[in-house]
Amino acid sequence: MQAQQENIKAIVKKCLGKPYYENEYGFIYNMDCLAAMKKLPEKIIDQTFTSPPYNIGKEYETIMKIKDYINWCKEWIAEIYRVTKCNGSFWLNVGYLSIPNKGKAIPISYLLWDISEFYLQQEIVWNYGAGVAAKNFLSPRNEKILWFLKDYQDYTFNLDDIRDKDVKYPNQKKHGKLRCNSIGKNPSDVWQIAKVTSGFHRSSIERVKHPAQTPRDLLDRVVLAGSNLGELVLDPFMGSGSTFESAIAQERMFLGFEINTDYCEVAVERIEKFVYNKKLSEAQLSLSFA
Ligand SMILES: C[S@@+](CC[C@H](N)C(=O)[O-])C[C@H]1O[C@@H](n2cnc3c(N)ncnc32)[C@H](O)[C@@H]1O
Repeated sequence: MQAQQENIKAIVKKCLGKPYYENEYGFIYNMDCLAAMKKLPEKIIDQTFTSPPYNIGKEYETIMKIKDYINWCKEWIAEIYRVTKCNGSFWLNVGYLSIPNKGKAIPISYLLWDISEFYLQQEIVWNYGAGVAAKNFLSPRNEKILWFLKDYQDYTFNLDDIRDKDVKYPNQKKHGKLRCNSIGKNPSDVWQIAKVTSGFHRSSIERVKHPAQTPRDLLDRVVLAGSNLGELVLDPFMGSGSTFESAIAQERMFLGFEINTDYCEVAVERIEKFVYNKKLSEAQLSLSFA
């Protein structure tokens, strides 16, 4: 596996040049993801997770006309399709946007689900507790993850690695046999996972300096379910490096693109700290078994 990984690293570097940051697990490129992906060969990526700009005026985006936004998404999703291996997958996290005189909270999934050659396997609802307390409408408490496949007859799905251990009646039997899987239940298509919050006295422990950080718990579930040890995970809108951190934790390789240098810096600092702590705890563990 190591030779294969070195080979992939060499291909990536040959196509994209010197990375902004590199470690044994992967790369960060401070680049526009569309331009970057166009330089990659086809069928090199095992799994992509990304949370793109939602066209809602966050500090890292300029609002586009809805038609332009959809066309732009079409372009980069087509590139993800091209670089994905035949048995690979694409997990797209999206929220809501407004269209004047048309709708206040239009699910972006309605706009993007069928604009590519990917097969839509399932929509996952990500439900969380914190958020705006609305007065004139319902408080928003979910986003979506569209799980796309290149080939619906050949894909990775490691259900046992993401089973939910919180089973209400673990010992319930039918005809003398346990009703539930002893390692947990299927986590379903509704995932209750806390958002990364900010603010005095309410900031999540994992919070870094990025306005739209994806939680590690969500990423760990996605990465564990959709890729295998040593495989290559891509995040074209990498932000603060949450997908990179998850890939390292789950022993995958990673390739990330981020257009904003400040966010690249945030990600590098975060990843360096994470790898340092990972190695420290592995060393402590090996000492305690010596
Ligand atoms: C929703 S955030 C991603 C957050 C990320 N999941 C995290 O946990 O930090 C989207 C990111 O895409 C970046 N971005 C926007 N346009 C880009 C482009 N064309 N190429 C690469 N990155 C881009 C933004 O700077 C922003 O950091």
